[in-house]
Formats: sequence, C-alpha cells, structure tokens
Amino acid sequence: MSQQVQGVIAPGKNEPVRVETIVVPDPGPGEAVVQVQACGVCHTDLHYKQGGINDDFPFLLGHEAAGVVEAVGPDVTEVSPGDFVILNWRAVCGRCRACRRGRPWYCFDTHNARQKMTLTDGTELSPALGIGAFAEKTLVAAGQCTKVDPAVSASVAGLLGCGVMAGIGAAVNTGNVGRGDTVAVIGCGGVGDAAVVGARLAGAARIIAVDIDDRKLETAKKMGATHTVNSSSADAVEAIRELTGGFGADVVIEAVGRPETYQQAFYARDLAGTVVLVGVPTPDMKLELPLLDVFGRGGALKSSWYGDCLPSRDFPMLIDLHQQGRIDLGAFVTETIGLGDVEKAFARMHEGDVLRSVVRL
Ligand code: APR
Ligand code: ZN
Ligand code: ZN
Repeated sequence: MSQQVQGVIAPGKNEPVRVETIVVPDPGPGEAVVQVQACGVCHTDLHYKQGGINDDFPFLLGHEAAGVVEAVGPDVTEVSPGDFVILNWRAVCGRCRACRRGRPWYCFDTHNARQKMTLTDGTELSPALGIGAFAEKTLVAAGQCTKVDPAVSASVAGLLGCGVMAGIGAAVNTGNVGRGDTVAVIGCGGVGDAAVVGARLAGAARIIAVDIDDRKLETAKKMGATHTVNSSSADAVEAIRELTGGFGADVVIEAVGRPETYQQAFYARDLAGTVVLVGVPTPDMKLELPLLDVFGRGGALKSSWYGDCLPSRDFPMLIDLHQQGRIDLGAFVTETIGLGDVEKAFARMHEGDVLRSVVRL
C-alpha cells in the first residue's frame, strides 16, 4: 500500500524546483509517515538543488519540519499516530562508539527510513538530509521524530529541526556559554541570530553582533545583542577587543563559514576563549594561520554541527522556553508560503531581508 501526495522536487542540477506527485509507502519496521504541517526553507535545500551536496537527483527537498504522525510501522516505540513531532536529521543510533561513550551528538550512524519515496513512474527520490518535508506527507525513521507540546505553532516548531537549533546549540551546547560571559557572533543571519538567542539564554553579559549589513545588526539587537559592529566599516577584531576591555570575547561564534570571518573569530577571542565554527565552509576554502598564534593561546577551537544537539533533550526544552515567553522563536519566521513558492524563497535568500520562509501545509 502507498499514498500519493504533493511534494517539491529538485529534478536536476540548477534546474528550477517544482511540485510533483510523489508516492509515500506505508511505514515499514521502525518507520513513520508524518503529515507535514510546516517546513522552513534552509540554505542546504538550495545547495541540494545546485548539486553542491551530491548528485543523487531527483531530491525531495525540505528538512526543517514539524507535523503530526499519521501512521507507524511495526516495532515503533518512540511515537504513536497523532503525536505532534519535530523531525531531525540526526537520529542517533545508540550503539556506535560515539553513542556508547555518551556523546551521541557525534553519532554518524544516523537512522533514516529504509524504504524509498518515489515519483509516480517509480523513480526513487533522495530526501534532503534523510527527511524530504516540502511534502504533504513524508516517510522517516521513527527515531527522527521528537514529540513536543502540540500547543506550539508548527512554523516555530519546525525551525528547531535545523537552522535555529544549530545557532542556539552553537552557543549553549558547543560554546558552553556561561553566566557573565562575553560572546561575539560573526554573521547575523538566521543561524547567527539564533546563536545570539542562545547566548542570552545562557546568561551572557555582553553579546556583540558583527555583520556587514546594518539591517542584520538591527535584527540581532532585537534578538538580544547588546552591542553591534558593522565590519564593512570597522575592524571586527579591534572593535570586539575594545568592547571587552582589550581581552577579546570568551566565546566567538562564526556563523558565516568563510576563512576571513573565521580568522576574525580566531583573533577576537580571549586568550582562554573558545571559537565555535557553525557557518558551513565550501570544500575549496583554506585557512592559513601562524602556528605560533595557535600555540600562544589556550582555549578551544570547536566546530558545531547541528548545534551538537540532542533532539530528545533540546527540542522539548526549547519549545517549553518559547511557550513561557523566555525566548521568541516566532521572530525567526519572516513569511509563510505555499509549496509552489519554494523557488521564490530561494531567490529571496540573497536579498537579505528574510530570516526564514516557512512552507505551510
Ligand atoms: N562578515 C560578517 N558577516 C557577513 C560576512 C562577513 N564577511 N559575509 C556575510 N555576512 C553575513 C550576512 O550579511 C548574513 O547576515 O552573514 C549572514 C549569513 O546569513 P544567512 O545568509 O542568512 O545564512 P544563515 O542561514 O544564517 O547560515 C549561516 O550557517 O548553516 C550555515 O550554510 C549556512 O554557512 C551558512 C551559515
Ligand atoms: Zn550512534
Ligand atoms: Zn538546514
């Protein structure tokens, strides 16, 4: 048995995405079919379309989603039909070396559905990040579903499935920001702004937002930045040092993914400070630093993948904090759109006035 629904496909490298009928199989062992309610548009979806991730076209795009479990297959204990869930693209296995050593956020044996969704002619689809949620329904591994309070808006919940979790987690989990810390965030798009929110949540005393676009700095202030630096007109490293009594920040979060901004982060940290790289570089990028400058400082150089999150711990907690009004995840939703508008949302990404476009179903 299977069912047919509408979904957004990237048919080939750099070809426009389009809505197609897709075939969703009934859930097999360990699998669930989820009725998607909302799915954010993330840069990674655009990278899939551009062939920047791999060549397994056609892709079923979308991976930042929340919805309701419609059906589960045999041996599913995690969720039941009717549960409101956030989907995650790193369902930990519980058995690999990282999981056994108590660091499941490094699990690389992640779980996805075994069966394939297809086009009506039988062509197998590659779901983006093992999810594929620009679709009315999608098939995932049950472990990819994390149950959260159904009272929250689906648009907000879905955001935790990727970018917002990456940013908050970069500050709270990877950077381990503590009460009274000074934090600098370089690059204030959706991910950087989420890092600002995370730093504030963790009790940072000063949060310095750095960007080349004044509009982004205004938004970062609304998210909780206490100071801003426009690095197209000021030297970011000097400005951060000045704002931290000459020491540099305790934690610097790089949310652009470029060598020059990483270099700024490296030199803008306190002698014992931490640099967290959460921006995603491209394979051609290289970093050159005097080794003596690496030697001459303590602290830590870290990278954060998916905010080092543990969905079962972090998703319900952040939804709870949002529901209490202690963080405002709604501020990340710039617009809600339909399935047919994903191509337009990609175009708007470059205009700089969108944190997140969210597809509502
Ligand atoms: N210095 C400071 N800020 C910069 C610079 C720079 N040299 N270049 C770009 N920026 C700013 C942009 O103005 C923008 O505000 O970085 C921000 C990037 O934001 P978005 O494009 O909205 O990207 P976002 O979704 O936040 O993701 C940031 O993390 O997930 C990855 O692939 C993603 O690498 C990207 C990064
Ligand atoms: Zn594992
Ligand atoms: Zn994403």
